[in-house]
Amino acid sequence: MEIEQRWKTRRLVPAAYDFVVEHERLARLGGRLLWGTDTRALYDAFTETGRLPAGSAVLDLPCGGGVAFRGVPRAAGLRYVAADLSAVMLGRARAEAARRGLPIAFVRASADRLPFPAGSFDRCVTYNGLHCFPDPASAVAEMARVLRAGGTLLGSTVVSGAGARQDALLAFFRRTGSFGRAGSVADVRAWLESAGLERAEVTRSGALAWFSGVKR
Ligand SMILES: C[S@@+](CC[C@H](N)C(=O)[O-])C[C@H]1O[C@@H](n2cnc3c(N)ncnc32)[C@H](O)[C@@H]1O
Repeated sequence: MEIEQRWKTRRLVPAAYDFVVEHERLARLGGRLLWGTDTRALYDAFTETGRLPAGSAVLDLPCGGGVAFRGVPRAAGLRYVAADLSAVMLGRARAEAARRGLPIAFVRASADRLPFPAGSFDRCVTYNGLHCFPDPASAVAEMARVLRAGGTLLGSTVVSGAGARQDALLAFFRRTGSFGRAGSVADVRAWLESAGLERAEVTRSGALAWFSGVKR
């Protein structure tokens, strides 16, 4: 079964992942043990959304179960759109938005065929998703397409090249159908640049890369 089809139809793996990431202490343990990274940076990154001016349009792709919603202040006046391929994840994300009282719009979509016109968003956040996609380069190009000029893409992804143990884990997750093609830090930079994003920054902490770029 192809990777995209697996994420579309699986129930247990997405729900188990989301349970862990929604519990910061569990996620910290998993992040340290599996990927040699400190996941506190992830929860700090979510708060960036709260600094956007009122009226900004944000795309959260893939939103998963909505872990990034914790960084969205209720009164921020943002137009926040959360997209994911998995109905299970979107169901969890809807429940999370309702629990937080956030007026989020939900869209079921594949990362490389986004149903939005060019220039629709001021910010696109993509946490822990690229390594799950069949074609991360085209997903980055799609996210860049839907950003307006001057809009920012921010995200994180698991990358190869952090060490033999983590590369073996990546291969395991790929074999068992949870991961697609995870790139290296150099690949992530190339994906950003070929998508027309400038001021591309990519840093690595263990096997997790943090990246950003601005649409020309
Ligand atoms: C590891 S989770 C990350 C979710 C969330 N951003 C987080 O940090 O918890 C990966 C997500 O990617 C979604 N996904 C996988 N393939 C996809 C695709 N081709 N297009 C859109 N979403 C996809 C999955 O359904 C899942 O919710």
